[in-house]
Amino acid sequence: NYYAVIMAGGIGSRFWPVSTQKFPKQFHDMLGTGESLLQKTFSRLEKIVPASNILILTNERYLDLTLQQLPKISEKQVVLEPAMRNTAPCILLSALKIQKEDPDAVMLVAPSDHWIEDENSFKEDLEICFKNCENEDVLMTLGIPPTFPNTGYGYIECDANATSEIKKVNQFREKPDYETAKHFLSQGNYLWNAGIFLWSVKSIISAFEAHLPVMNALFSEGKPIYNTEGEEQFVAQNYGLAENISIDYGIMEKAKNVYVKEATFDWNDLGTWGALHDKLVKDINSNAIVRATTHLKEASGNMIFSEKDKLIVIDGLTDYIVVDKEDVMLIFPKEKEQEIKILLAEVANKH
Ligand code: GDD
Ligand code: MG
Repeated sequence: NYYAVIMAGGIGSRFWPVSTQKFPKQFHDMLGTGESLLQKTFSRLEKIVPASNILILTNERYLDLTLQQLPKISEKQVVLEPAMRNTAPCILLSALKIQKEDPDAVMLVAPSDHWIEDENSFKEDLEICFKNCENEDVLMTLGIPPTFPNTGYGYIECDANATSEIKKVNQFREKPDYETAKHFLSQGNYLWNAGIFLWSVKSIISAFEAHLPVMNALFSEGKPIYNTEGEEQFVAQNYGLAENISIDYGIMEKAKNVYVKEATFDWNDLGTWGALHDKLVKDINSNAIVRATTHLKEASGNMIFSEKDKLIVIDGLTDYIVVDKEDVMLIFPKEKEQEIKILLAEVANKH
């Protein structure tokens, strides 16, 4: 059987002030379409995997938000983390839970906060990967042709001469520095890791055995009680003991059986306000506007976001992020968007 897990426990701090620890970006309607990023992710996956086989992995503080936004799922489909430990622990825990239900299961792991519009190509790509994982002991990722030396992504080196649809990965490098990323880009045989993974539960659990044995031992102890009433207590006691590490550093960089399928769909990880601006429909002066009613003069290239429909009047502003929220207003140059993380720490005691 096919399963999917959606990772929805991140904080999205570069989308402050909209994304906060209380209410992170995946639960927000960032695109102004009436659906949150998580809801969009769920409905995309529901066309590939039965809704009852989709698990949501998130921090325990987001249980209510998750159930409110996804009325189709039951509480037992939400895997609650008592502590933030990045993506490796939650993936292992969910793989063990799924394995108990179906030892031959193939699972897809997806982030909750990406922009993917072409759902048909997405579905076709994933179906090819699912089939491949049914028969082979492989860890699969989806690759995106890179367009600039982004240091926030994982890079996948594949065989330059390979022509097959699914390619063997020579090297997986998570978040290289700028010089290395530039070098990778100039080589031509590198792809960005889209953060969407597929594997059989058998293959991923053996990868944890080999590369994160301590974590594997910790969570394997819970096998007899996963999917039973005792699970909650076991997780509450043990989850926080797991190493804080992402699947990318913990498994993908080390495993030898990594394969990639180049994605045929348009993808954006919506990591920053600028990325959101890129993906939205814009007015003739390249302003992207979410929810606000605007009156603009001499204004261009701005990302204008309002939580409620509000009249926003601007005269003489170029390439800025303007965010209006009930309790915070942000007016910040788009070119400094990476610094919002730092800004957030600076204003923490004022807010
Ligand atoms: N459940 C849970 N628990 N989810 C988490 C946690 C956690 O502790 N930490 C992060 N997530 C979720 C985020 O909400 C997001 O949907 C996904 O896991 C990936 O985490 P990010 O923190 O956004 O990772 P990243 O963007 O730095 O890097 C990953 O994604 C890139 C593409 O967007 C890596 O896989 C890179 O290799 C990849 O290029
Ligand atoms: Mg991300």
